[in-house]
Formats: sequence, C-alpha cells, structure tokens
Amino acid sequence: MFQVPRGTRDFTPEEMEKRRYIERNMTSTFLSFGYGEIQTPTFENIELFTSKSGEAILNEIYNFTDKGGRELALRPELTAPVIRCYIERLQMEPKPLKLFYFGNCYRYDRPQKGRYREFRQAGCEIIGVDTTEAIAELLALAFSILKNVGLKNVRINIGNLTIISMIFKRLNLLKDDQKRLLPLIDKSQFDDLKVSLRDCGVSEKDAEQFICVLQTSEVNEIRSFIADDPDAIKELSIIETVIGLLKNAFHITESDIKLSIVRGLDYYKGLVFEIDAPVLGAEKQLCGGGSYDLVTLFGGSEVPTSGFAIGFDRTILALEAEGFVFPPSKLDVFIIPVNQDMIPMSIDIARQLRDKGISVDFDLLRRGMGKSFKYADAKHAEKVIIVGPKELEKNTVTLRDMKTGNQEIVTVSEIFTKLKKP
Ligand code: HAM
Repeated sequence: MFQVPRGTRDFTPEEMEKRRYIERNMTSTFLSFGYGEIQTPTFENIELFTSKSGEAILNEIYNFTDKGGRELALRPELTAPVIRCYIERLQMEPKPLKLFYFGNCYRYDRPQKGRYREFRQAGCEIIGVDTTEAIAELLALAFSILKNVGLKNVRINIGNLTIISMIFKRLNLLKDDQKRLLPLIDKSQFDDLKVSLRDCGVSEKDAEQFICVLQTSEVNEIRSFIADDPDAIKELSIIETVIGLLKNAFHITESDIKLSIVRGLDYYKGLVFEIDAPVLGAEKQLCGGGSYDLVTLFGGSEVPTSGFAIGFDRTILALEAEGFVFPPSKLDVFIIPVNQDMIPMSIDIARQLRDKGISVDFDLLRRGMGKSFKYADAKHAEKVIIVGPKELEKNTVTLRDMKTGNQEIVTVSEIFTKLKKP
C-alpha cells in the first residue's frame, strides 16, 4: 500500500551490514590520516546554501518553512554546514584543522541508478593549509579510502579553475558566457561546447584547440596553449608537483591532469579533482572536491580550505560491479534449548556469552531441533550450543561447529574459553 518516496531507499539488515562494513573501513582510513569526525544537523537555514549559489539552487534542494516561519533546507551536501560550524565554534583550533564526516544528503535530482534524492556522503574538509603537500595528501586520502574499501579500478582527474578562467579571459568570453559554457565542460558535452564557443565569437581554430586542451593529459600540450600567461603556468606547475608527490611519495600512479574537470558547485576556486570508477558507466563519479572559499562569505577570517566528498552509495555499487565479496554476516553462537525447562539455563548462558562480547541468539519460538538448526544456518551461526537435561545434570552442553559438523560435550565454563574472541 505504501512505498518509499521516489529517489529514496530502505536498507535491509543484509544491506546495512555491507554499508556499516564500508563505513568502518572508511572511518579507519580518515583516522589514519589524522582527521577528526564532525556531525552537523540534517537541515540548515536556507541562506547557508543560497548565499553562494543564489535562488537557482532552490530547484535542486528540499526546502520548507517550519511552524515558526523559518526557511530551512535539507542539506544537499556538507561543506557549507561544516564551514558554518567551523566559523561558529572551531576558528581558534590549531591549524590545519582536519574534519571528516558521514551524512545523508538530499537533492531534488532525477532518480536513476547511482543518483538518488536521499544519498550518503563520506567527506572531509581541511582548513588552514594550501601547500602542495597538503593538497597531495588530500587526494591521496580520497584515493586510499576507495582503495582500502576494496575497489580495484579508480582514477583521479585533476583540473584547475584558475587556468580555465584565464583561458576564458584570453578568448574574450564574458562572465555570462562562462556561466553557460562551464556546465557543458562539466558534462563533457564538447560538440555543444564547440557550437556555443562559436556563438560567443570564438574562432574555429581557438575553439578546437581549447577543446583539445580540455581533454588532454599531456602537460606539454596544455603548457604551450597557456604559455603566455605566467599565472596559468604557475597553477599548472602546482598540478605537476601534486601529481609528482602522489607518484613518488604516496605511490599513487593513477592520477592525471584533465582541465575539463570544473565541478558543478559554485564555491570552488583553483585546484579541483574528481575520482571515477569506470566500471559504473553513466554515474561513475565516486568523489569530487578541491579548493574553495566559503569562510569569508560566511563572515570568518580568511583561511585556505579544501575537501572532498565520496558518494557512499556509488562506492557500494562500484564494489558490487567489480565483483567484491563482502564478508558475510555472522553470528557467533545459536543456542537451542532441547525443551522448555532448559530455557532459563539457555538465557543464562546467552547472557554470560554476550557479556564477553560474543554475539548470541537463541530459539525464541520453542521450535524442534531440525527447524532450529535450519534457522541457525540461515543466520550463519558459527557454533550451536544444545542445552539438554541429561548433559545439564553434569553441568555440560553440546557444542557443535556448524562448518565441520563436529560436536563435543563441554562444561559450561569451558564454553567461554572455547568461544573467547581473539
Ligand atoms: P559533489 O560532487 O556534489 O560534491 O558530491 C560528491 C559525491 O556525492 C559525488 O561524486 C557523487 O558520488 C555523490 N553524489 C552526488 N549527488 C548524488 C546523488 N544524487 N545520488 C547519489 N550520489 C550522489 C560535493 O558535495 C562537495 N561538497 C564535495 C566537497 C567537499 N568539496 C569540497 N569539500
């Protein structure tokens, strides 16, 4: 009768197990890079998102007026909320400040595979540093998170918005033209871009060269195109240094320069990047990020900021598409009382095992042995304990290994040592 709202999903225990497994794995990588976790509210005052992007963003977000007449929005992302929190509470913290987060985001997108209206992001922001090593470490972190969860094939593409705007200036493109052209570059719609460049008065030759430069990973080709602009050349050498550090110090060779990476959000400046999982086809962008400025806009003291967010749901889709085998859910022990008189003893054993961190379930339906074993099997129980009157007289139980089928009679106190977690 009722269904989940369009673009949202339920997650079954089996799916949640996979998601929590990935989240734990990602958390340990964030922690290993010295990041601390932050959490912000699911909804914010709407100006937090409109102040940079303007009212146009209202088409893409879930906004509402609450009973007190406040204009609020479900967060479409977490960078603006984290920067708001930084300005409210964390400006005096020692720099660089490294913050990571997990959170559900809401966008009024057209749903399809890998694109949802409610989706989860794993992301981070680094505040107070913009050295090349800091940027390289940020990219290495994003890459390591995706590799550590088990993805085989991911690639980093690095762009730079300063270089793009310098090229725009050289091609005599006006601000309005740029606003029209950037989404075409972002979506790699190069045929449409060529037509639009021509409409903006750019010569055929310049347009063709520009489109080639947007797509190439040959630094020399880019360098010769921007050779007369020292600032652009400086930005290019920053990308080269970052790629060099990734390769030689972080041992990450899967990164390329790609100037067509311009990012869809309005707050970016300078170096930007995306990480793709080619296995996903259409919605293959797993991660996006770069340097940006929101701090001064929100009233904070000027400080460099950069970060990224990984699409959590797409990461799981990519893992599944690559054939990743998630560790199966498992239960340490399932207890079967042979009859109702054995129930209190079964509960007592369960309680003691649980206190020792062992996961335990027991037959709550007073079923026969056969059905209980079937259920234990379905729950991937590693061991089954059978509590029967004869054994209990001697203070023993039967312990069965579900994988080997081996059974042994053990004393109740022996169970604990036999099942002790390493
Ligand atoms: P974003 O590129 O808009 O960047 O989102 C980051 C990632 O979230 C995307 O690469 C994608 O994997 C995932 N994603 C985005 N929209 C959807 C959707 N509708 N359904 C499923 N997954 C989606 C940001 O949000 C920036 N705040 C990243 C950032 C942090 N930049 C600096 N710091």
